[in-house]
Amino acid sequence: MPSPEPGGAGTPASTASERRGKPLRIVVVGHVDHGKSTLIGRLLHDSGALPEGKVAAVEAMCRRRAMVFEWAFVMDAFQAERDQAVTIDAAHVWFRSPRRDYVIVDAPGHREFVKNMVSGAASCDAGVLVIDAGEGIREQSRRHAYLLHLLGVGETVVAVNKMDSIAFDAGRYAAVEAGIRDYLGALGAVPRQVVPIAARDGDNVVRPSPRMPWYAGPSLRDALDSLAPPGGREDLPFRMPVQDVYHFDERRIVAGRVESGRLRPGDEVLFSPSNKTARVARIEAWNAPAPVAEAAAGRAIGLILDEPLFVERGETASHRDRPPIETDVFRAWLFWLGREPLRPGARCVLRLATAETPVEVQSIDRLIDIDDPTAGGSGGEAAEVARDGIAEVVLRTRAMLALDEYAANPRTGRFVLVQGRDIAGGGVVDMRGYPDQRPLITGKSTNISAVEHAVGRADRARRNGHRGGVVWLTGLSGAGKSTLAVAAERHLFRKGYQVYVLDGDNVRGGLNANLGFSPGDRAENIRRVGEVAALFADCGLIVLTAFISPYRSDRERARAAAARGGANAFHEAYVRAPLAVCEARDPKGLYRRARAGEIADFTGVSAPYEPPSRPELVIDTGDHSIERSLRALTDYVERSFALAPAAPRDAERS
Ligand code: ADX
Repeated sequence: MPSPEPGGAGTPASTASERRGKPLRIVVVGHVDHGKSTLIGRLLHDSGALPEGKVAAVEAMCRRRAMVFEWAFVMDAFQAERDQAVTIDAAHVWFRSPRRDYVIVDAPGHREFVKNMVSGAASCDAGVLVIDAGEGIREQSRRHAYLLHLLGVGETVVAVNKMDSIAFDAGRYAAVEAGIRDYLGALGAVPRQVVPIAARDGDNVVRPSPRMPWYAGPSLRDALDSLAPPGGREDLPFRMPVQDVYHFDERRIVAGRVESGRLRPGDEVLFSPSNKTARVARIEAWNAPAPVAEAAAGRAIGLILDEPLFVERGETASHRDRPPIETDVFRAWLFWLGREPLRPGARCVLRLATAETPVEVQSIDRLIDIDDPTAGGSGGEAAEVARDGIAEVVLRTRAMLALDEYAANPRTGRFVLVQGRDIAGGGVVDMRGYPDQRPLITGKSTNISAVEHAVGRADRARRNGHRGGVVWLTGLSGAGKSTLAVAAERHLFRKGYQVYVLDGDNVRGGLNANLGFSPGDRAENIRRVGEVAALFADCGLIVLTAFISPYRSDRERARAAAARGGANAFHEAYVRAPLAVCEARDPKGLYRRARAGEIADFTGVSAPYEPPSRPELVIDTGDHSIERSLRALTDYVERSFALAPAAPRDAERS
């Protein structure tokens, strides 16, 4: 047994380690049988991190019992001892190279691993993927590699273990290495180094192996030493999810942990999603005798504000100029661990930072094929995600949430799903195709007071002979919204109705000429039109709107705007036609151009459309003639806005 190198350490506390910067947290992953614990044992031993005599004792024990020595036994013995020693962090092991300190984050069984990784219980800076040289990359290794990739564990070193089982053969190794590089390459990940090792005997773990003279690269530990130092969370925008609010005498203390960025007394903080602001009067830390001059990521603090704000657990504090996203719907990459497959419409509880809210699976857009992750899985809507499956989903929460995209801030961009008491899945937030709703719900006007009208709604209705209101047509481009709206306008006008069409292509020429088709612009488009339609309805008109209006949340806001003017003022009409039908019609040739990549963010092709969940009226233009669809619409309008209206809420069908 070669002796360890000097300079290793079993515990983190040392001034030298402070000089050497932050330790690099690594997670060792791979298929259960591919030699993870052997590698960890060997790495610790050869770095001198194991307590004196430990290995010798285990070797002696093996001899006594006529057992073959296993590094896993050393790890077990080490673990057992450490678990009794309260002073040492039981979940992690430490070792040190001449360059820096390392923490090995424990990755037990596959499910535990996924849970720890997605919940953030095991955050790490780099991953070591262990692969058996004789077997190559297997399903579980693929899952782990995919997870590391999704979680943005950017730096990976691959250890091709058990080189002795292929007789240290350079040719066979080259084939395994190529397979691994191909798989990771398809994910867009380039391993920092692929190292052939025999962990049991220590070949290329810390020291170069005489048995693989053909390998000119670094040992595994030297490869780890070549990784970039861990990135600083302090430099991200400030985020502090509120854990609790304590009351002492007159004072309130808002408590939480700084997940990213820094905060100083005097800073103005914004709490989301309540959108209340205040200035920080003082920062206290539980372990600091005096108020803190600056609190950086990782620190648990209590905030005392300059005015008493009512904020609650679940909100996130930020600076005003770099706030988190506010939304009640987002896209996510989800790892599903639940016993039952996950289906659209399923409900769970979502935990994101300290927020906890009911959530519904709005759609399952794509299943990832772990063998070929670039294949696109099942395009379009998928029926379900099986246990251990990975999918791209859209989640809708009951309450507004404050969050970040995972890529922008891992701490506030990942979540877990809870069913009963179990973590049933977890994932990372990706807002592709969805807007930040913050600008839509943030009022800026101050010192305003509404003026009462001298003419009432009833007066206008009496003169017109009908009530005012909004019929909101929504559907894909080419579904027939404008055609129907314009024909209905003519028909109803001839019958004496005060009626007007607001159409996307028209409004975008004037009022909304400054808006494009990004998610945020579409949401603002619909916000403005919703407000205009509500005003028109208030002045007695029947307004027919023809906008794709792809987001449910926007249409609900338009409903709320109209409802300010009275009940039953807003009617959602889903102009429904399958995408294939709309695409075949392609009245403006836009689908063809979108498919050719000439138009970005095209609804149904490269941007989402969320069908209404409870529309008042459904018009199936895919199945029915224009005449029949038109009659369905005009009949509905006449019934709904007659002076003594019957106001049906359940969907009618044409
Ligand atoms: S919405 O999504 O913001 O509600 P709106 O109804 O105003 O869209 O405008 C849709 C019309 O704009 C379509 O009928 C089409 O003529 C045109 N258009 C141009 N670019 C796009 C795009 N990327 N996606 C959808 N429609 C587009």
